[in-house]
Amino acid sequence: MIDRRIMQSYRGVFIVVEGCDGSGKGSAVAALGAHLMALGHDVLLTREPGGTDEGLELRRLLLSAEGAIWDEGAELLLMIAARIQHVKRVIQPALAAGRVVLCDRYVGSTLAYQGAGRGLSQEMILMLHRQFVDDFWPDLTVLLDVDARLGLTRSRARLVEQGLDEGRFEDLDLAFHQRVGDDFRAQAGRCQDRTLVIDANPTMDIVREAVLNGVDAWLAERVVA
Ligand code: TMP
Repeated sequence: MIDRRIMQSYRGVFIVVEGCDGSGKGSAVAALGAHLMALGHDVLLTREPGGTDEGLELRRLLLSAEGAIWDEGAELLLMIAARIQHVKRVIQPALAAGRVVLCDRYVGSTLAYQGAGRGLSQEMILMLHRQFVDDFWPDLTVLLDVDARLGLTRSRARLVEQGLDEGRFEDLDLAFHQRVGDDFRAQAGRCQDRTLVIDANPTMDIVREAVLNGVDAWLAERVVA
């Protein structure tokens, strides 16, 4: 069982969107960010790996299909290094200032990709998270649950369309992405009270609407509570 301790001392709200490649996270995060801003929230949109200058450098190194061939352990530690910088320098200060932080991927991706996907110990990932990231977890995770094969097809097409050299994980086989998807669902099952699972197989319009409605309902309940 994963221990999820919320840092109650922060005034802001920390929302993370997770999912397999091609689940539509990018569009969902942009739409949700615009929606929350229109409602008057002070929103910070960010992503992992990335979110800081150092994180963006690491993103380039980690995601380039043409770039270095990383050992699995090095890949894990670089993902976590980017997260440490991001949480300490960007996310926690924004939450302390009362902002809504909307983040595309977080430690759930490390558990799914480096843990279930690569086969590294999830206990070790959680231990590193406790040690270096203050055991810091989102208030809400929105999981965009897509069929791995469909997601991979969408994601590979997008990389070609946009000419992006970020396809190192898309180059991995379907079985890898199925393990990732299964693990995201398992994480959601363990943390039902803090996870909103959205079927991400339909068209983006339908997914976007489900995300906005789900987050609105969660925020309304949170205010009442
Ligand atoms: P994306 O930002 O376009 O979703 O791409 C990020 C890629 O990095 C995606 O394939 C998942 C992968 N990733 C990990 O393997 N581990 C992590 O901890 C994070 C944040 C991302």
